Amino acid sequence: MTETTDRDQGRYTGVAIALHWIMAALLISVIFYGWWLTDQRDAISSYEEFLELKSGFNWHKTAGILILVLSLFRLFWRVTHKVPPLPEGMADWERIGARFSHIAFYVFMIGLPIGGYMAASAYGPEQPILLFDAIELPKFPVPQTPEFQALTGSMHGSGSWGLIALMALHIAAAMKHEFVKNDGVLARMIPIIR
Ligand code: HEM
Repeated sequence: MTETTDRDQGRYTGVAIALHWIMAALLISVIFYGWWLTDQRDAISSYEEFLELKSGFNWHKTAGILILVLSLFRLFWRVTHKVPPLPEGMADWERIGARFSHIAFYVFMIGLPIGGYMAASAYGPEQPILLFDAIELPKFPVPQTPEFQALTGSMHGSGSWGLIALMALHIAAAMKHEFVKNDGVLARMIPIIR
């Protein structure tokens, strides 16, 4: 008879694992692309560049909306499916920290795209929100003023830094589980490793 260890604990569903890694890649790409676009915007020197950038922003918005849809579905999946229990031997503060950070991820994954939509709504009709750079979506009824653009734009940018900080913490915790405690927590979210 083989002995059961923490490493043998249950794993996440295939859907949860797929969503985790697809969304991690999407979030990181959308953040870097957002930085690149806003940097380019500060250095525009021709109308052609403006048009190209407008199209780039529409692809950023499209990816952000996809993230919002996936996040809502993921939240639905999370509350309708069991998650594997945390390994025994984790301190109370670690359990509370894990729970709090997972809730915070959902707050960012849902709040950031809604904030971005708000920022995009602050621009006038010359900068519509085009899904796939083609289908016009309605804007929130917000003031279309430079002040509101600056406010919502900087809140959206700061929110992204919050998400990056949370991701860094999350990765550090995963590394501690894998290399210090060796308790199999990371493997539960990786399809091929046991
Ligand atoms: C999770 C999803 C999203 C992430 C992680 C994200 C991230 C970012 C980042 C990092 C920037 C650059 C900020 C800066 O350097 O100041 C940015 C800019 C921007 N994003 Fe997003 N974004 C997301 C979704 C969206 C959505 C759904 C929209 C609109 C429908 C949107 C519209 C914008 C706009 C308009 C800007 C420029 C803001 C400004 O005027 O300064 N974003 N985004």
